[in-house]
Amino acid sequence: MQSPRGTHDILPSQIAAWHKLETAFEEISSLFGYQEIRTPMFEQTEVFVRAIGEHTDVVGKEMYTFPDKGGDSMTLRPEMTASVIRAVIQHNLIAINPLQRLWYAGELFRYERPQAGRYRQFHQYGVECIGAMTPEADVEVILLAVALLKRIGIKDYTIEINTLASNAVRQKYREELVKFLRENQEKLSPDSQARLEKNPLRVLDSKNPNDKLVIIDAPTILDYLDEECDEHFTTVKALLTAENIEFTIQPRLVRGLDYYSHTVFEFVSSALGAQSSLLGGGRYNDMFVEFGAKPTGAVGFSMGIERLIMIMEKSQPDLYQAPKPKVMIVTLDRDSLHYSQSIAQTLRQAGISTVSDLQRRSLKAQMREADRLGTSIAVIIGENERQFGKAVVKNMQSGEQVECEASEVVMAVSAWM
Ligand code: HAM
Repeated sequence: MQSPRGTHDILPSQIAAWHKLETAFEEISSLFGYQEIRTPMFEQTEVFVRAIGEHTDVVGKEMYTFPDKGGDSMTLRPEMTASVIRAVIQHNLIAINPLQRLWYAGELFRYERPQAGRYRQFHQYGVECIGAMTPEADVEVILLAVALLKRIGIKDYTIEINTLASNAVRQKYREELVKFLRENQEKLSPDSQARLEKNPLRVLDSKNPNDKLVIIDAPTILDYLDEECDEHFTTVKALLTAENIEFTIQPRLVRGLDYYSHTVFEFVSSALGAQSSLLGGGRYNDMFVEFGAKPTGAVGFSMGIERLIMIMEKSQPDLYQAPKPKVMIVTLDRDSLHYSQSIAQTLRQAGISTVSDLQRRSLKAQMREADRLGTSIAVIIGENERQFGKAVVKNMQSGEQVECEASEVVMAVSAWM
């Protein structure tokens, strides 16, 4: 039996990388005043359809949707933002504090064609800053992402930003874009021709070489900004520059989810190959309206954890180094097994990680095991030690060993730690 296509087990030999990242997520989130939120792994399908948009690939093709036994349509979450906003509205968090700084990490599900860096079950870390319409909030989440990448030692990425403007401006731009694409319709790929009617902005990030030739001459949204949209975007750029954050303006950056307006951004890395987007995000003030609430400023991003690890694998040789048990108890005869187990307990109670043989193996096999585990100290117990209440403590690096009373074993082990 195999795990389902596009999913993966995270094995004990890999888990250290995940633990390191989880520590960094907590540390950097709280450095910026963000609090963790955890939402259910599935929601009513409607939550995602309304928030993400019917004509997106995520909703149209990629959701794991199923009727539950009560006949309600449920969907495994394909992203977290919609769930977080659903929770914020449901629990009226804005009434408790009008500015909610939230973070999350968890698994997501998208029925995509699996390839390197693209899975059907994957993980994201993300933040949502809710309650502010200001460009300062856009910049804060970008600064947080930069701080996180610095904290975990990732340098190989660039930041692309764009604005999708207000709804009114985007609508006007959309009409102009459709006009332009229609004039060039026969040169477009069948996929883009289909998108032209339903989601024309998405044509802009087609990877098809023929589409790219057409798109290069397409009008860009930057030429249509009104004063308010321009001011918001200009302030974001100025604040990023003031913080020495390098970025490029990518007027064709449109994102794959329909909820954005104003600032959108992606961090891309050449270390990732075809799936070059490490994180994506932006402003999405209208999601609250989709859920029947008042328009509320909101901006955030999500970062693919598998993609983070792919980049770290290339540059961090100790990524998977896990903490090792300090002590292995080596038992020479069957009658001493209970005595060994109580010595192990004494060490653990003193906070020293300790393992002992559970398979009643030979001395040689136990020493080999200690070697494999990388324990730096062995405590050797035989008939003599058991009878006289003693233990032999051996330094595995130097080969030095001392005999001590059972009551002194913690002290003897600590001397070599
Ligand atoms: P997204 O661009 O759909 O945005 O996903 C964000 C990140 O999740 C991507 O940049 C990528 O690293 C990772 N990712 C997406 N799909 C997969 C996959 N199939 N396999 C592995 N990694 C993947 C969002 O999800 C939005 N919720 C971001 C956001 C938060 N916008 C505002 N707030």
